[in-house]
Amino acid sequence: MINVLIHGCTGRMGTTNVRVFHSDKEVKVVGGVVEKGNPFVGMDVGEVAGIGRLGVSVSDNIEDYISLCDVVVDFSVPSATSRLVDVALKHKKKLVIGTTGLSEDIMKKILEASESIAIVQSPNFSVGVNLMLELTKVATQVLGEDFDIELVEVHHNKKKDSPSGTALKILEVIKSIREDYKTIYGREGIIGERPKEEIGVFAVRGGDVVGDHIVMYLGYGERLEIVHRATSRETFSRGALRAAKFLMTKDKGFYTMKDVLGF
Ligand SMILES: NC(=O)c1ccc[n+]([C@@H]2O[C@H](COP(=O)([O-])OP(=O)(O)OC[C@H]3O[C@@H](n4cnc5c(N)ncnc54)[C@H](OP(=O)(O)O)[C@@H]3O)[C@@H](O)[C@H]2O)c1
Repeated sequence: MINVLIHGCTGRMGTTNVRVFHSDKEVKVVGGVVEKGNPFVGMDVGEVAGIGRLGVSVSDNIEDYISLCDVVVDFSVPSATSRLVDVALKHKKKLVIGTTGLSEDIMKKILEASESIAIVQSPNFSVGVNLMLELTKVATQVLGEDFDIELVEVHHNKKKDSPSGTALKILEVIKSIREDYKTIYGREGIIGERPKEEIGVFAVRGGDVVGDHIVMYLGYGERLEIVHRATSRETFSRGALRAAKFLMTKDKGFYTMKDVLGF
């Protein structure tokens, strides 16, 4: 049995995580944590997630649950993730980190912590998106510099960071091949002809879109698009669940979804 603590348990992802992790026979949800002042504190974690009583209540103090868990699953906000890393390090607990918008300092802290504890961090836990990263690598290599590359991401109107963590990851893959290319975020005014060494990134926000990512390769006489559309947050939770199971075989180290999926 894997004992899991859900960090950010009342959020869009947190409630989905509670549902998906609880539905797995090998997993026990031992607690849920939120920010101080959250109106759900004291309520049952399962009831908040819409699956009925689990017998554990939402807490605003991670120390209430940290000793009971094997792994903490975090989809919250960067400042909370940063504090969580300190607590996990102190108690030697494994971490699945899905929070996006992490600063360089927080990433550095995560990498340092992974010298003592096992961590999977990914800006996108969907299996499809992780395959998309590999397809992007191949397409960028094979299509070559004759093709202009543009990236579009679409998300719901509550999303706080832009561009999405996934878009930044896709960019990282493209720029590992097109090292000298400059990234621009949107275009406006008399911008002139598009320089070859440019990658345009566009963040569209609206409605309840879970997350679309489109990489366009615009050539002469043809165009290739790699498109991924997430239709439910469950896909991220299912990936996070695979990551939590993967971590049970590791004592320390930094891992990504590529390691979890084994390609
Ligand atoms: N990696 C992936 O696959 C993936 C997929 C989807 C989303 N995400 C990312 O996951 C994060 C959460 O997204 P969301 O849509 O679920 O956001 P959300 O609905 O705003 O939920 C955030 C949750 O974090 C909680 N939180 C805030 N401060 C906290 C603290 N100090 N300690 C513990 N919990 C705290 C919030 O509680 P309060 O309401 O009390 O503030 C809330 O429960 C974002 O960074 C998003 O980009 C990642």
